Amino acid sequence: MNKDDLLNAIRTRMPEKRFVHTIGVMETAIQLAKVYEVDEKEAELAAILHDVVKFADRDWMKQTIIEQQMEPTLLTFHHELWHAPVGAFVAQQEFGVTNQDVLNAICYHTTGRKFMSKLEKIIYCADMIEPNRKFSGVDELRQQAEQGLELLMKACVKHSIQFLIKKNQPVYPDSIHCYNDLVTRKEND
Ligand SMILES: [Fe+2]
Ligand SMILES: [Fe+2]
Repeated sequence: MNKDDLLNAIRTRMPEKRFVHTIGVMETAIQLAKVYEVDEKEAELAAILHDVVKFADRDWMKQTIIEQQMEPTLLTFHHELWHAPVGAFVAQQEFGVTNQDVLNAICYHTTGRKFMSKLEKIIYCADMIEPNRKFSGVDELRQQAEQGLELLMKACVKHSIQFLIKKNQPVYPDSIHCYNDLVTRKEND
């Protein structure tokens, strides 16, 4: 499927606002891929599909997590987290994506995880800093975009975890593992 067909296909599955967000993630991910020498086409594909099931039926997502034997812990956390792994499943099943790095980038775009690839980090960060995002602190995150992918990622993960803590929300274990991995890693690893 070419880029335009893909965009048309996902546009029917989400409200216009989320489609605009997806375009923002795509453009930001391509820019980051250029700067950090990641395949731009892979970044584009992962970005276009990252929220493919964001508005899918919640019961169907729950059923998919069970049937596909995804991490059961997911079901004990907010359903907001479900669209990422289920999105990776749909990217593979319905859109024929076979590139594992692209599938992982979709799968972990909400929680992060330890040992993320450059592409995974790019999609995670692009999702947070794309131009349509308006939360407090987003400009500071955007300023990290050219300081290095590790620093940008660290800033984004910290922001997400702090946000959850401030709201008295639980933090998914993969996000903690992601944070620990980033802060204990030596520079240039
Ligand atoms: Fe998402
Ligand atoms: Fe998103």
